[in-house]
Amino acid sequence: MNYRHAYHAGNFADCFKHALLLALLDSFARKAAPYFVLDTHAGAGGYDLDADAAQRTGEADGGIRRLIRSADPELARYLGLVRELGLYPGSPALIRAALRENDRLACCELHPEDAATLRRRFRRDPRVEVHERSGWEALTGLLPPGERRGLVFIDPPFEARDEFQTLAEGLVRGHARFGTGVFAAWYPIKQMAAVRGFHADLRSSGLRDIVAVELHLRDVTDPDRLNGCGLAVIAPPYRFEEQAESIAHAVLAGVGDGETGAGTHVLRLADE
Ligand SMILES: C[S@@+](CC[C@H](N)C(=O)[O-])C[C@H]1O[C@@H](n2cnc3c(N)ncnc32)[C@H](O)[C@@H]1O
Repeated sequence: MNYRHAYHAGNFADCFKHALLLALLDSFARKAAPYFVLDTHAGAGGYDLDADAAQRTGEADGGIRRLIRSADPELARYLGLVRELGLYPGSPALIRAALRENDRLACCELHPEDAATLRRRFRRDPRVEVHERSGWEALTGLLPPGERRGLVFIDPPFEARDEFQTLAEGLVRGHARFGTGVFAAWYPIKQMAAVRGFHADLRSSGLRDIVAVELHLRDVTDPDRLNGCGLAVIAPPYRFEEQAESIAHAVLAGVGDGETGAGTHVLRLADE
């Protein structure tokens, strides 16, 4: 495990996934019944963007440091929370901020240091559990939740060569346990062959009602660069596709450099 999110926090991919994550969470709050969230790859929950790790890559300069100036109403909820939470928030901090009194969050983080940081951060909140265990294994072990409604957010580091396959299999496994849940899985776009393979695996998985939202910063020609990223969502809420398109568009407007091939895409991979 070499990946540490502290080096990448605040990059364009973080902004994209977190703005969409909040839209998904807010859709649960339309009903009074409590919901559950499983964050399978949670990270440390908060990052100092002035610290050495973040400064070394400078990735936040092309992400949140630009996007924070956006006045687009589609990003108001996300950017409002980034401002309010102070320390730049990771996914568990954003999820926790969205929870109501009886909603719950379970976070999994395998890196001992990040898991300990996360545990310290949330120790006074009875709604949040932190598990130092594999998020892949939690897709079986922690599902289904008693609430029967909720979101599974899967944001792996993509260090392993077969991570796309692991992700597709994880979605199938998790969904078999929690068929009434919404699943959202982030993926990198470095080369289109890998992305097309992932889409094909999802299309032939037997899972229904799948949408993929993508942001491309440029033509996907250099496999050594993060040219874009996507979020695959199973059982998206009502009108999510339109909302996701607007959010992705607003993020690209804030972080894009107008390179050839830049754009946003919402693809339906499987019907309801
Ligand atoms: C992309 S980062 C997560 C960022 C976080 N979701 C956010 O949005 O702020 C991936 C995280 O997964 C952790 N990790 C790697 N393998 C894991 C596994 N099998 N189970 C749980 N966490 C894992 C890494 O230590 C890293 O913190």
